[in-house]
Amino acid sequence: MTESIAKVRKAVIPAAGFGTRMFPASKVVKKELFPIIDKDGRAKPIIQIIVEEAISGGIEEVGIVVQKSDIPVFTDYFQALPSYYQKLSAEKQEYCQYLQNLGSKITLLTQSEQAGYGHAVFCAKEWVGDEPFLLLLGDHIYASDVEKTCASQILQVYEQANQSLIGVRIIPGTEIHHYGCISGNLVADGLIDIDTIYEKPDLNYAREKLHVSGMKEDEFLGVFGMYVLTTKIFDYLEENIKQNAREKGEFQLTSCLDKLQRLEGMTGYLMKGRCFDTGMPDVYRQTMIDFRND
Ligand code: G1P
Repeated sequence: MTESIAKVRKAVIPAAGFGTRMFPASKVVKKELFPIIDKDGRAKPIIQIIVEEAISGGIEEVGIVVQKSDIPVFTDYFQALPSYYQKLSAEKQEYCQYLQNLGSKITLLTQSEQAGYGHAVFCAKEWVGDEPFLLLLGDHIYASDVEKTCASQILQVYEQANQSLIGVRIIPGTEIHHYGCISGNLVADGLIDIDTIYEKPDLNYAREKLHVSGMKEDEFLGVFGMYVLTTKIFDYLEENIKQNAREKGEFQLTSCLDKLQRLEGMTGYLMKGRCFDTGMPDVYRQTMIDFRND
């Protein structure tokens, strides 16, 4: 009897950082709540677009990791009706119901100390339980080049690969120092058997260690912003947290991904789509322009 692969039902989105790269606006608005004009013409907070992406892939429950003091603003957005509800058009009132319905799928998880991306992911351990889960960055949004959304693509590939998976995209050498990067062997169309995962390499390191054969010079595979991970990742994160093993002052995810990859193997998947970063002023401005016109 073949072992059946657990369906991925849960998604985790870390949204508990200070957003210092978006200072000073992030003093008053969580960067995950900054607006983007979506394809339907609505001005939506970034987090909503990410939640919708997860749901589009068949995810049933979404855990958003936030700071405790931010619980009210996220709860208000996804659960409360606005004070001016009665003044809204029927269509917008209906949209409020839609948001509440989305909210019913969301659990807010808290990170008590802003100790890094890996630490934020670890805060979802109890809620995730014993199931593989989809991890989505809190500051990336996506546009698929094919009919299936990006989340659907990665979840479908997970069912075939049956091991942890990182969605990747081609990143030019000039930008690689901003992103996590993988290298390995191309084993099939768009699938990479990962042998290294490295956080924000400089170009010289990337040239020396992270070139994937068959790819152009000075092009690398960087994190797309979507991962499907087995719960073993929490053991590695916990180990680092217990040992206070910080990198650049924080608990990072990437080094734990690398350990997970060595233990269980990991596949990279070249996503058929584009991701749009919103986490830095210049890229956010560009995303505002490009996302809707896509
Ligand atoms: C995180 C990840 C990194 C990824 C990046 C995308 O870094 O650690 O691997 O490429 O997000 O924005 P951060 O942006 O939190 O520094």
